Amino acid sequence: MKRFFLENYGCQMNVYDTEGMERLLVESGYARTETPAEADVVLVNTCSVREHAEERALNRLSELTRLKDQRPDVVVGVTGCMAQRMGKDIKRRLPRIDLVVGSQALPAVMEGISEAEKARARGGKHEPYIGPETLDHYLPPPTARGPEPRLKGFVTIIRGCNKSCAYCIVPTTRGPEVSRTPAEIVAEVEDLVAAGTVEVMLLGQNVNSYESSGVDFPELLHRVGAVSGLRRLRFTTSHPRDMNRDVVWRMGTAPRLQPWLHLPVQSGSTRVLAEMNRDYSLEHYLDVVDASREAIEDLSLTTDIIVGFPGETEEDFEGTLRLLERVRYDTLYGFKYSPRSGTAAAAREDAISGDEKQRRLAALLEVQKRISHERNQRFVGRRLEVMLEGRDAKRGNWLGKSGHNKTVVLPDAPHAIGDFVEARIDRAEGLTLYGTALGRTPE
Ligand code: SAH
Ligand code: SF4
Ligand code: F3S
Repeated sequence: MKRFFLENYGCQMNVYDTEGMERLLVESGYARTETPAEADVVLVNTCSVREHAEERALNRLSELTRLKDQRPDVVVGVTGCMAQRMGKDIKRRLPRIDLVVGSQALPAVMEGISEAEKARARGGKHEPYIGPETLDHYLPPPTARGPEPRLKGFVTIIRGCNKSCAYCIVPTTRGPEVSRTPAEIVAEVEDLVAAGTVEVMLLGQNVNSYESSGVDFPELLHRVGAVSGLRRLRFTTSHPRDMNRDVVWRMGTAPRLQPWLHLPVQSGSTRVLAEMNRDYSLEHYLDVVDASREAIEDLSLTTDIIVGFPGETEEDFEGTLRLLERVRYDTLYGFKYSPRSGTAAAAREDAISGDEKQRRLAALLEVQKRISHERNQRFVGRRLEVMLEGRDAKRGNWLGKSGHNKTVVLPDAPHAIGDFVEARIDRAEGLTLYGTALGRTPE
């Protein structure tokens, strides 16, 4: 039996795609291996969001193409956002690559593999298979049933992005928005739950622009949350531009919805937000934050921030630090601006030095570290429901997640992965909570 090795970079939607490709390969008779040296087909599903993400994938791919030194027949391919962005130009960086299939044409990966194999059989000059720009069909969803039950499942509800944030390559790599039908989504969640999944995360670059068959995102949340047997419902990512008080209230009342919201702000300066083409003011953002906290009790709030966007002044950056103090996020993901060619911002001078971006990022993370610690103290002495997701083998502890998406460490006890336990939180350090299990919680 032929074997494949498949590695993933990038966001959760890429993970979903990677698992869809895995399903295609398995259904075509290939078996998965974790060892590239044993594989007949080696694929890397890539990300283009920052230059660093592309550099990592390119280095990894050129390392993997060296497998051909020993086994010239191995097929090495690149898929996903970087393949979509670079297309055949990727040959210059990866002269020994066999197939290039972008994120908008992933089902073509099987054709790419068979073309590469045929080319091998013919011999002659090496020319890689370059997939089509787009296809009108998609990968199958990941298989719900595996050797192990999967506790947590991802479901992409909307592909692509119609926004045009000035820094962002995603609309280029993923194309325009296409929402899946509510019937398809609910059926996929039902399948997952029937196979043992208890937590579902709905995915989209902007879930709030979901619209299909007259169903909008809050309505979809209600339909998915009503699937019998599902215990936890999450989603990411929301765009503040497409939210208002009414939408937030409708979202917040969905069954099984967990008290966690990822609400990227990108900058705390209305001027920079306008330059980024985010299409909201700081006032609007703060109103959405306040409404979310009113609608969802004890909400845990996280965000993304870019430092060093072209033209960001010290004063703009200080505005971002003030925003952290005002909102008091539970945690954040901070990024140094990385120019992506073809985006609107790339035409502007990237005048802020690497050192200065690094200084701003470190200052941002320093402020947030203190706030995260302070925010976590609110849990001490409280009881939380924790879903056990793994064990720390060295210490024998159980590791789980609260509804707020906080890691909770509990001492060893006869539990099983997937158990829901009630825990008393004894202390909070950094991003982690430490507690005592009091017993299982009812379904
Ligand atoms: N669709 C989501 C996230 C997209 S990518 C949203 O709208 O928020 C994830 C994060 O990467 C973004 O939120 C942004 O903070 C960051 N990012 C995107 N492009 C970037 C770039 N060119 N340089 C640095 N960070 C970037
Ligand atoms: Fe990129 Fe903006 Fe779309 Fe998010 S909403 S994927 S940041 S263009
Ligand atoms: Fe990266 Fe593509 Fe996701 S660029 S962040 S893998 S949509």
